[in-house]
Amino acid sequence: MSERIEDIARAMVAPGKGILAADESTATIKKRLDSIKTESTADSRRDYREMLFRATDAMKNHISGVILYDETLRQKAKDGTPLVDVIKASGSIPGIKVDTGAKALVGPTGKIETITEGLDGLRERLAEYHKIGARFAKWRAVIAIADKCPSYNAINANAHALARYAALCQEAGIVPIVEPEVLMDGEHSTHDIDTCYEVTEWVLKEVFQQLYYANVRLDGIVLKPNMIVPGQKSAKQASAQEVAEKTIRCLKACVPPAVPGIAFLSGGQSDEAATEHLSLMNQMGPLPWAVTFSYGRALQSAALKAWGGKLENVAAGQRAFSHRAKLTGLAALGKWDRSLEKAA
Ligand code: 13P
Repeated sequence: MSERIEDIARAMVAPGKGILAADESTATIKKRLDSIKTESTADSRRDYREMLFRATDAMKNHISGVILYDETLRQKAKDGTPLVDVIKASGSIPGIKVDTGAKALVGPTGKIETITEGLDGLRERLAEYHKIGARFAKWRAVIAIADKCPSYNAINANAHALARYAALCQEAGIVPIVEPEVLMDGEHSTHDIDTCYEVTEWVLKEVFQQLYYANVRLDGIVLKPNMIVPGQKSAKQASAQEVAEKTIRCLKACVPPAVPGIAFLSGGQSDEAATEHLSLMNQMGPLPWAVTFSYGRALQSAALKAWGGKLENVAAGQRAFSHRAKLTGLAALGKWDRSLEKAA
């Protein structure tokens, strides 16, 4: 495979393919495993992820890359093969989450707003990750909507950090996934879809300005934004068509066509909603960039449940994951149909 970042970025958003976000931190994966009454240990985390990465049909045909957590990048499968090699053998690209989490921002909105950390020592960490096999990275900035939020300080500080991260990645031959997530869930999520639109537009404008200042090449990034959706606690929900139209309108206003691809997060949407929205957007083409997925929950939740932490359920877990990956892959082509959901 080519080592040029523009080629890697294009491969990450190849037609009908998208990214599996399996980079849950130790605390987050524990919550997922708790939900199926499975103890979170290095082995159970490995077993779960190995199950996904060995789902050959899904990995070969629909998953262009996998975002890993530091622990997983260094882990070996049960038979001793590095998990990175399992991923590569299926033709998929290993990636790595490199931020060290969203921490409370100093100031009056500090109970709600965060700044994502992880820049110190990042150049050295990226060099090591490249050696281990990572060819792309992820950094998630989090923007909350609430009374007096977001503040300009939160947007500016997070956009600045994203740009510094992206520049360091490209220097290391690693494609940065630039992820500014405007939250749809959480205790303050009563905002409507138009507020999400306005905030997302503001955030994206700021992010691209900062990427420009930091000399980031736009043809060597993948943008991972939220869709334009009402907050989970909003009294006014929106139709799938409205979500798709507003999301594409907002992105067209903010994302230069030099960017090869947009890979959405699912952010708390149901599996079916995340898939339907993606498919509708792709039906609105031609679009200036590839539009695909980088889902965590919307790709994994059915598989996690079907597996249930039991060795005898590995095949069932893989079937559930393959089904979801296939439908989401079809959505990336604008070819998903609700009747396919029932065939699970
Ligand atoms: P979700 O699709 O579950 O939102 O996760 C994607 C992700 O990687 C968030 O950073």
